[in-house]
Amino acid sequence: MTTKTGETTAAAKCPVSFPLRKPGRSFPPPEYTAYREGEGLVRSELPSGPVWLVTRHEDVRTVLTDPRISADPSRPGFPKAGRTGGAPSQDEVPGWFVALDPPEHGRFRKTLIPEFTVRKVRELRPAIQQIVDKRIDAMLAAGDSADLIADFALPVPSLVISSLLGVPPADRDFFEAKTRVLVTLSSTDEERDKASQALLRYLGRLIQIKRRRPGEDLISRLIAADTLSRQELSGVAMLLLIAGHETTANNIGLGVVQLLSNPQWIGDDRVVEELLRYYSVADLVAFRVAVEDVEIGGQLIRAGEGIVPLIAAANHDDTVFETPDEFDPERSARSHVAFGYGVHQCLGQNLVRLEMEIAYRTLFERIPTLRLAVPVEELPLKYDGVLFGLHELPVTWT
Ligand code: HEM
Repeated sequence: MTTKTGETTAAAKCPVSFPLRKPGRSFPPPEYTAYREGEGLVRSELPSGPVWLVTRHEDVRTVLTDPRISADPSRPGFPKAGRTGGAPSQDEVPGWFVALDPPEHGRFRKTLIPEFTVRKVRELRPAIQQIVDKRIDAMLAAGDSADLIADFALPVPSLVISSLLGVPPADRDFFEAKTRVLVTLSSTDEERDKASQALLRYLGRLIQIKRRRPGEDLISRLIAADTLSRQELSGVAMLLLIAGHETTANNIGLGVVQLLSNPQWIGDDRVVEELLRYYSVADLVAFRVAVEDVEIGGQLIRAGEGIVPLIAAANHDDTVFETPDEFDPERSARSHVAFGYGVHQCLGQNLVRLEMEIAYRTLFERIPTLRLAVPVEELPLKYDGVLFGLHELPVTWT
């Protein structure tokens, strides 16, 4: 493939609108296929300036591993998807390590990896099962219908991550509301700033309390390990709290809809990996910027140009996944990039898999008559979110 410059390609002359996820359209957007089969990389415009959208599986992996490409939002040209294009303030929080490049990033990752291994996460099974059972008890006690997002898909991961961190479950409404501001594309910089400052103040106070009275939780263990500064500790806790609930909630909700439409897969744990691939809820989270000129998929990207690897486009690449738009839990979906790739690959992925497995198994075992209370096409999808998902999921079991 010959190298093209940003100035000469057709895509460069005609930037595509972003994000492509819009009301009334299917997800992943149909253009992803067209771009993948065409130039692979296309030029777009964000509030922060021009960016390259990357659609092929191989190219997305390259973007996420090439050392000439940075995850640091303070670098010139870093893409911002928000309304006003300023720096979302959480990116500047010490300890927000998803926004750090190696070698700084490694210090945080090294401290946290032992907390999220398969073995360590497996120890959480009884606690997760209890949380799931309690939510189902509450739904059943409240009647014969529910909003499965508000009553199950969101509270489950929210309660799991707060119990792991040692955040009081009673504060759920507070931290969920602040997180919603941070993951909404139309939030202004001011709103985002306020939300992250409120979360940091809250976590700072919680950490002070835990310094005096440590508990059996991750924040207390990080305090005891003494490898992070006070400020870094608040930033790490905030990243884990935010990353730990909205993402999984969206996947649980969409997965329930898929399983209700394809009940032959209910009870088969292989659905988890395929649901992660199929929905790719974190399509827009892994933004990057080139810090040197770099060629990706035959396209020259100049230093200072923004890059958005489209995770859903990569996960529907038919050179890697046969009939990618079909939901097929029997395929081998493991090479998906739903959790990203490279050094920033999702720290919570083992936890996510376990939460999804327990959530689906228990939900359909305990409520075998579960069904949608509205036609599937009336379900309100999230178009304004950094993450794809459902606002509401009305269900009944009469
Ligand atoms: C379905 C659920 C989830 C999805 C789809 C998801 C997706 C992702 C993706 C795509 C990234 C890479 C971001 C990048 O490269 O810039 C990431 C990073 C991360 N995720 Fe998740 N995530 C999920 C759940 C969780 C949970 C439950 C936790 C809780 C611990 C978590 C914690 C993190 C952290 C801390 C990072 C940053 C890792 C680093 O920079 O080293 N995620 N996630």
